[in-house]
Amino acid sequence: MEIIIQPTAEAATSVAARVIARLLNEKPNAVIGLATGSTPLLLYRALIDMKLDWSRVTTFNLDEYIGLPKEHPQSYYSFMWDNLFRHTNIAPENVHIPDGNAKDIPGFCAAYEQRIRDAGGIDLQVLGIGTDGHIGFNEPTSSLASRTRIKTLTPQTRQDNARFFASLDEVPTHCITMGIGTIMEARHNLMLAFGANKAHAIAEAVEGPITAINPASILQMHPDAKFCLDADAAGELKRADYYRWVYDNKPEWQHL
Ligand code: PGA
Repeated sequence: MEIIIQPTAEAATSVAARVIARLLNEKPNAVIGLATGSTPLLLYRALIDMKLDWSRVTTFNLDEYIGLPKEHPQSYYSFMWDNLFRHTNIAPENVHIPDGNAKDIPGFCAAYEQRIRDAGGIDLQVLGIGTDGHIGFNEPTSSLASRTRIKTLTPQTRQDNARFFASLDEVPTHCITMGIGTIMEARHNLMLAFGANKAHAIAEAVEGPITAINPASILQMHPDAKFCLDADAAGELKRADYYRWVYDNKPEWQHL
């Protein structure tokens, strides 16, 4: 794991944006896994400002609420088009977001996994982390080998996301999410986390035991996982000084 601690969310985002820009320059037909929530908003703004060429890029989103109409302002479909896709030259047929209104959810989930395989697998997966350690919507106790499937959101996640809805009652109870096994097959995982409310989940994920209680901790088993953190999200890391030293002394040839 590479733990990159920057003073601010903007600085941490700029590192992540450079990683993605480099990938798109080296592989114009890259397959990118994308995330929603507050965390990647700065990243998407930075990528839009970079005016990258998305014409050959394929994307797969991590998750979607079940039962919200696609056009609902809080659907992840709306989120992605509003905050990223419509500001790029991406081909709509290359965009994949789980369909939270699929009639046959298990069938849809199996087909989503197949589409990822048909695209050649995910080159880079963008991740946020829940305050409970979830990645995608893989809540604590999710199987670390899980695949794309239906999940029930925890009360904590519904509470965390209630800020986007008029009331807690409006927050959906179920979602479709890529599984942890699916995420672990991405060639590169890029986690972003900002703010003191993420510090505990990040400390558990990076320095705690690998456990389904903190699904992000499985990234300890990933051969190429980067964590781009602001100082607050890194606030509970015991070895923060070491991670800063490693990054400051990274050899030029090693790249980001
Ligand atoms: P957030 O959510 O970016 O809105 O904090 C992250 C997550 O739940 O994965």
